[in-house]
Amino acid sequence: MISDQDIIGKVLYEDADHKFIWLGTEQRYRKGLIQTMQYLIIDRGRGILLDPGGVHLFSRVVAALSRYISIDKIDYIFFSHQDPDVSSGIALWLGVTKAKVYVSKLWTRFLPHFGIVDPERVLGIEDKGGSLSLPSGAELRFVPAHFMHSCGQFNLWDSRAKILFTGDIGAAVFGEGDETVFADDFDQHMKLVEGFHARYIANNAVARKWCGMVERLNPDMIAPQHGAIYRGKSVKQFLAWLSNLRCGTDLVDQIYGS
Ligand SMILES: [Fe+2]
Ligand SMILES: [Fe+2]
Repeated sequence: MISDQDIIGKVLYEDADHKFIWLGTEQRYRKGLIQTMQYLIIDRGRGILLDPGGVHLFSRVVAALSRYISIDKIDYIFFSHQDPDVSSGIALWLGVTKAKVYVSKLWTRFLPHFGIVDPERVLGIEDKGGSLSLPSGAELRFVPAHFMHSCGQFNLWDSRAKILFTGDIGAAVFGEGDETVFADDFDQHMKLVEGFHARYIANNAVARKWCGMVERLNPDMIAPQHGAIYRGKSVKQFLAWLSNLRCGTDLVDQIYGS
Protein backbone atom coordinates (compact mmCIF):
# COMPACT_ATOMS: atom_id res chain seq x y z
CA MET A 1 0.00 0.00 0.00
CA ILE A 2 1.28 3.46 -0.89
CA SER A 3 1.92 5.79 2.08
CA ASP A 4 0.82 9.41 2.56
CA GLN A 5 4.48 10.37 2.29
CA ASP A 6 4.84 8.58 -1.07
CA ILE A 7 1.69 10.02 -2.57
CA ILE A 8 3.25 13.49 -2.74
CA GLY A 9 6.25 12.34 -4.77
CA LYS A 10 10.01 11.72 -4.59
CA VAL A 11 13.29 12.85 -6.10
CA LEU A 12 14.46 9.88 -8.20
CA TYR A 13 17.82 11.36 -9.26
CA GLU A 14 19.75 14.39 -8.04
CA ASP A 15 23.14 15.99 -8.65
CA ALA A 16 24.35 19.58 -8.33
CA ASP A 17 22.74 20.68 -11.64
CA HIS A 18 20.05 18.19 -12.38
CA LYS A 19 17.03 16.49 -10.78
CA PHE A 20 14.48 13.94 -11.99
CA ILE A 21 11.38 14.10 -9.79
CA TRP A 22 8.30 11.93 -9.55
CA LEU A 23 5.42 14.29 -8.72
CA GLY A 24 3.37 11.67 -6.94
CA THR A 25 -0.01 10.34 -7.81
CA GLU A 26 -3.39 12.01 -7.59
CA GLN A 27 -5.14 9.63 -5.30
CA ARG A 28 -5.49 6.25 -3.82
CA TYR A 29 -7.43 3.72 -5.88
CA ARG A 30 -10.67 5.14 -7.25
CA LYS A 31 -13.00 2.94 -9.25
CA GLY A 32 -13.51 4.02 -12.87
CA LEU A 33 -10.51 6.38 -13.09
CA ILE A 34 -7.02 5.37 -14.16
CA GLN A 35 -4.31 6.49 -11.73
CA THR A 36 -1.64 8.65 -13.36
CA MET A 37 1.85 9.87 -12.45
CA GLN A 38 3.63 13.03 -13.55
CA TYR A 39 7.35 13.82 -13.61
CA LEU A 40 9.47 16.97 -13.55
CA ILE A 41 13.07 17.43 -14.69
CA ILE A 42 14.93 20.43 -13.28
CA ASP A 43 18.23 21.41 -14.88
CA ARG A 44 20.09 24.45 -13.52
CA GLY A 45 16.81 25.84 -12.22
CA ARG A 46 14.80 25.42 -15.44
CA GLY A 47 11.97 22.87 -15.70
CA ILE A 48 10.62 20.28 -18.14
CA LEU A 49 7.27 18.71 -17.28
CA LEU A 50 6.39 15.22 -18.53
CA ASP A 51 2.79 14.17 -19.33
CA PRO A 52 1.14 16.62 -16.90
CA GLY A 53 -2.32 15.15 -17.54
CA GLY A 54 -5.89 16.27 -17.84
CA VAL A 55 -7.96 19.16 -16.56
CA HIS A 56 -9.09 17.52 -13.31
CA LEU A 57 -5.44 16.96 -12.27
CA PHE A 58 -4.26 20.47 -13.01
CA SER A 59 -4.44 21.96 -9.51
CA ARG A 60 -2.78 18.92 -7.90
CA VAL A 61 0.10 18.92 -10.41
CA VAL A 62 0.60 22.70 -10.03
CA ALA A 63 0.78 22.25 -6.24
CA ALA A 64 3.18 19.27 -6.56
CA LEU A 65 5.62 20.99 -8.90
CA SER A 66 5.49 24.26 -6.95
CA ARG A 67 7.28 22.47 -4.11
CA TYR A 68 10.34 22.22 -6.39
CA ILE A 69 10.23 25.10 -8.90
CA SER A 70 8.27 28.23 -9.69
CA ILE A 71 5.82 27.64 -12.52
CA ASP A 72 7.26 30.45 -14.70
CA LYS A 73 10.51 28.43 -14.93
CA ILE A 74 8.87 25.59 -16.87
CA ASP A 75 10.36 25.92 -20.36
CA TYR A 76 9.05 22.73 -21.98
CA ILE A 77 6.21 20.28 -21.62
CA PHE A 78 6.63 16.83 -23.15
CA PHE A 79 3.62 14.77 -24.22
CA SER A 80 4.38 11.10 -24.89
CA HIS A 81 1.25 10.89 -27.07
CA GLN A 82 -2.18 12.37 -27.61
CA ASP A 83 -4.40 10.65 -25.06
CA PRO A 84 -6.59 12.78 -22.77
CA ASP A 85 -4.93 11.48 -19.59
CA VAL A 86 -1.64 12.89 -20.99
CA SER A 87 -2.53 16.12 -22.71
CA SER A 88 -6.11 17.32 -22.25
CA GLY A 89 -4.91 20.02 -19.80
CA ILE A 90 -2.81 21.67 -22.55
CA ALA A 91 -4.79 24.93 -22.71
CA LEU A 92 -4.47 25.42 -18.93
CA TRP A 93 -0.73 24.67 -18.96
CA LEU A 94 -0.05 27.03 -21.86
CA GLY A 95 -2.06 29.67 -19.99
CA VAL A 96 0.00 29.58 -16.78
CA THR A 97 3.47 28.97 -18.31
CA LYS A 98 5.47 30.26 -21.26
CA ALA A 99 6.41 26.66 -22.07
CA LYS A 100 6.62 25.09 -25.50
CA VAL A 101 5.15 21.64 -26.01
CA TYR A 102 6.89 18.71 -27.66
CA VAL A 103 4.69 15.95 -29.11
CA SER A 104 4.78 13.65 -32.15
CA LYS A 105 4.13 15.58 -35.36
CA LEU A 106 1.17 13.23 -35.90
CA TRP A 107 -0.74 14.95 -33.09
CA THR A 108 0.04 18.67 -33.41
CA ARG A 109 -3.22 19.43 -35.26
CA PHE A 110 -5.33 17.38 -32.85
CA LEU A 111 -4.24 19.01 -29.58
CA PRO A 112 -6.08 22.32 -30.24
CA HIS A 113 -9.31 20.31 -29.87
CA PHE A 114 -8.57 20.31 -26.12
CA GLY A 115 -8.92 24.11 -26.06
CA ILE A 116 -7.44 27.29 -27.44
CA VAL A 117 -3.79 26.60 -28.22
CA ASP A 118 -1.25 28.79 -30.02
CA PRO A 119 0.16 26.48 -32.74
CA GLU A 120 3.52 28.32 -32.56
CA ARG A 121 4.03 26.81 -29.11
CA VAL A 122 3.49 23.19 -30.19
CA LEU A 123 6.62 21.60 -31.66
CA GLY A 124 6.12 18.40 -33.68
CA ILE A 125 8.72 15.66 -33.22
CA GLU A 126 9.74 13.81 -36.40
CA ASP A 127 9.20 10.03 -36.39
CA LYS A 128 12.85 9.18 -35.87
CA GLY A 129 13.03 11.33 -32.71
CA GLY A 130 15.31 14.15 -31.66
CA SER A 131 16.96 15.73 -28.67
CA LEU A 132 16.96 18.76 -26.43
CA SER A 133 20.09 20.22 -24.83
CA LEU A 134 19.68 21.52 -21.29
CA PRO A 135 21.54 24.40 -19.59
CA SER A 136 23.95 22.03 -17.76
CA GLY A 137 24.89 20.28 -21.01
CA ALA A 138 22.70 17.26 -20.16
CA GLU A 139 20.71 15.90 -23.08
CA LEU A 140 17.12 14.74 -23.27
CA ARG A 141 16.35 12.39 -26.16
CA PHE A 142 12.96 11.80 -27.75
CA VAL A 143 13.10 8.06 -28.30
CA PRO A 144 10.65 6.51 -30.80
CA ALA A 145 8.03 4.28 -29.18
CA HIS A 146 5.49 4.25 -32.03
CA PHE A 147 2.65 1.72 -31.78
CA MET A 148 3.47 1.27 -28.06
CA HIS A 149 0.49 2.00 -27.92
CA SER A 150 -0.10 5.20 -29.93
CA CYS A 151 0.98 5.28 -33.61
CA GLY A 152 2.89 8.51 -32.85
CA GLN A 153 4.54 8.04 -29.48
CA PHE A 154 7.84 8.97 -27.85
CA ASN A 155 9.68 8.12 -24.66
CA LEU A 156 11.95 10.66 -23.03
CA TRP A 157 15.49 9.51 -22.19
CA ASP A 158 17.31 11.54 -19.57
CA SER A 159 20.93 10.63 -20.22
CA ARG A 160 22.15 12.33 -17.03
CA ALA A 161 19.68 10.61 -14.69
CA LYS A 162 19.68 7.39 -16.75
CA ILE A 163 15.89 7.33 -16.41
CA LEU A 164 13.59 6.49 -19.32
CA PHE A 165 10.10 8.00 -19.11
CA THR A 166 7.94 5.57 -21.09
CA GLY A 167 4.40 6.97 -21.07
CA ASP A 168 2.03 3.99 -21.11
CA ILE A 169 4.74 1.34 -21.56
CA GLY A 170 5.10 -0.52 -18.27
CA ALA A 171 1.77 0.85 -17.06
CA ALA A 172 -0.04 -1.06 -14.34
CA VAL A 173 -3.72 -0.82 -13.53
CA PHE A 174 -4.02 -0.91 -9.76
CA GLY A 175 -6.92 -2.36 -7.85
CA GLU A 176 -7.78 -1.28 -4.33
CA GLY A 177 -4.83 -1.96 -2.04
CA ASP A 178 -2.43 -2.86 -4.91
CA GLU A 179 -0.63 0.51 -5.12
CA THR A 180 3.16 0.57 -4.80
CA VAL A 181 5.71 3.22 -5.79
CA PHE A 182 8.26 0.75 -7.18
CA ALA A 183 7.68 -2.49 -9.08
CA ASP A 184 10.12 -4.40 -6.87
CA ASP A 185 7.86 -7.44 -6.46
CA PHE A 186 8.09 -8.16 -10.16
CA ASP A 187 5.92 -11.28 -10.46
CA GLN A 188 3.15 -9.73 -8.42
CA HIS A 189 3.34 -6.49 -10.40
CA MET A 190 3.11 -8.19 -13.79
CA LYS A 191 -0.38 -9.39 -12.88
CA LEU A 192 -1.39 -5.70 -12.96
CA VAL A 193 0.50 -5.00 -16.19
CA GLU A 194 -0.32 -7.87 -18.53
CA GLY A 195 -3.95 -7.02 -19.42
CA PHE A 196 -3.16 -3.51 -20.58
CA HIS A 197 -0.11 -4.52 -22.62
CA ALA A 198 -1.78 -7.54 -24.23
CA ARG A 199 -4.49 -5.31 -25.67
CA TYR A 200 -2.91 -1.89 -26.23
CA ILE A 201 0.60 -2.68 -27.54
CA ALA A 202 0.35 -3.21 -31.32
CA ASN A 203 2.11 -6.59 -31.52
CA ASN A 204 5.14 -8.57 -30.40
CA ALA A 205 7.29 -7.46 -33.37
CA VAL A 206 7.20 -3.81 -32.30
CA ALA A 207 7.53 -4.70 -28.61
CA ARG A 208 10.72 -6.64 -29.40
CA LYS A 209 12.14 -3.81 -31.45
CA TRP A 210 11.49 -1.34 -28.62
CA CYS A 211 12.98 -3.68 -25.99
CA GLY A 212 16.20 -4.09 -28.03
CA MET A 213 16.56 -0.33 -28.29
CA VAL A 214 15.96 0.20 -24.57
CA GLU A 215 18.44 -2.53 -23.61
CA ARG A 216 21.12 -0.53 -25.44
CA LEU A 217 20.24 2.57 -23.40
CA ASN A 218 20.65 0.49 -20.23
CA PRO A 219 18.41 2.64 -18.00
CA ASP A 220 18.68 2.64 -14.21
CA MET A 221 14.92 3.23 -14.03
CA ILE A 222 11.88 2.95 -16.28
CA ALA A 223 9.28 5.50 -15.22
CA PRO A 224 5.78 4.98 -16.72
CA GLN A 225 2.75 7.27 -16.61
CA HIS A 226 0.62 4.75 -14.69
CA GLY A 227 1.39 2.17 -12.05
CA ALA A 228 4.84 1.85 -10.48
CA ILE A 229 8.47 2.67 -11.32
CA TYR A 230 10.90 -0.08 -12.37
CA ARG A 231 14.38 0.03 -10.82
CA GLY A 232 17.24 -2.37 -10.20
CA LYS A 233 16.67 -5.85 -11.53
CA SER A 234 13.00 -5.20 -12.38
CA VAL A 235 14.17 -3.07 -15.38
CA LYS A 236 15.74 -6.05 -17.16
CA GLN A 237 12.98 -8.38 -15.98
CA PHE A 238 10.41 -6.08 -17.56
CA LEU A 239 12.27 -5.92 -20.89
CA ALA A 240 12.60 -9.71 -20.99
CA TRP A 241 8.91 -10.11 -20.16
CA LEU A 242 7.74 -7.59 -22.77
CA SER A 243 9.94 -8.94 -25.57
CA ASN A 244 8.17 -12.30 -25.21
CA LEU A 245 4.61 -11.00 -24.86
CA ARG A 246 2.00 -11.86 -27.50
CA CYS A 247 -0.13 -8.76 -27.81
CA GLY A 248 -2.33 -6.57 -30.02
CA THR A 249 -2.66 -7.96 -33.54
CA ASP A 250 -1.00 -11.23 -32.42
CA LEU A 251 -4.31 -11.83 -30.62
CA VAL A 252 -6.63 -10.53 -33.33
CA ASP A 253 -8.74 -13.70 -33.54
CA GLN A 254 -9.22 -13.72 -29.80
CA ILE A 255 -10.14 -10.01 -29.74
CA TYR A 256 -12.62 -10.24 -32.62
CA GLY A 257 -14.00 -13.49 -31.23
CA SER A 258 -13.53 -15.54 -34.41
FE1 LIG B 1 -2.35 6.20 -23.83
FE1 LIG C 1 -1.83 6.80 -20.24
